[in-house]
Amino acid sequence: MRIDAISIFPEYLAALDLSLIGKARTAGLVHLEVHDLREFTHDRHRTVDDSPTGGGAGMVMKPEPWGEALDAVLSRGAVEGAGEPMLIVPSPSGERFTQAMAHQLAERSWLVFACGRYEGIDERVMVDAESRIPVRRVSLGDYVLNGGEVAVLAIVEAVARLVPGVVGNADSLVEESHEGGLLEYPVYTKPPAWRELAVPEVLLSGHHGRIERWRRDERLRRTAQRRPDLIQELDVDGLDRADIATLAAAGWHVVENGATSGGASPPRFLAGPASVAD
Ligand code: ADE
Repeated sequence: MRIDAISIFPEYLAALDLSLIGKARTAGLVHLEVHDLREFTHDRHRTVDDSPTGGGAGMVMKPEPWGEALDAVLSRGAVEGAGEPMLIVPSPSGERFTQAMAHQLAERSWLVFACGRYEGIDERVMVDAESRIPVRRVSLGDYVLNGGEVAVLAIVEAVARLVPGVVGNADSLVEESHEGGLLEYPVYTKPPAWRELAVPEVLLSGHHGRIERWRRDERLRRTAQRRPDLIQELDVDGLDRADIATLAAAGWHVVENGATSGGASPPRFLAGPASVAD
């Protein structure tokens, strides 16, 4: 996978040299290039921002440096055979970044990130890019950061670890939080007792089936308690009897929606406590 990131703070992205992503780069699994937006300015002050047209607080990133930077990055990647690019613009007004989106992005051969600062990038930059390549505005969550760099660190880490070969043991990707719409089960290691706290007995039993069931139940219980929104989104048809019993103990029950059409079985969904205390 090729990744280009354009920013006025390229040093911010130096953390991508470290740890697993750094290793993936060394191993040639991820090719990452960081570009300084100011290299695409032509005035003495290397200006990248200006006041908002129509008035208002703050500053807006000018379209000219962005247009030039994207043209240069896109034509270079094309010459180097990077494949089909997708532009990702981190923004608090974008669609929410999720594990499902991380999987979608991990399928792409080339991602280009545009890190906005101030009040954002002149909208015409994205409109112009959209006339040539797919563009996604992506939000890390419902809060405002000072710029897109932290979002790029998070998105690149979440995506690159899904690229085959980046995480040594692919099994560890299967049961982690947000895979299958559930949070991860609690994990333990040695010693079996620590500060008078014991590891759950079942994990020492060596009984594979019981351990699997316990872990699944913990995922369901944790998710019900901490993220009821995720329980509401579960596909009831993907749950077994034990799942349904565990959810019932946590206050969630399968409800059949009476309205049927054409002999189809009625839609089923999970209904639970209106609000769940942690
Ligand atoms: N830039 C500023 N706030 C952001 C957020 N919440 N997500 C992504 N990019 C951002």
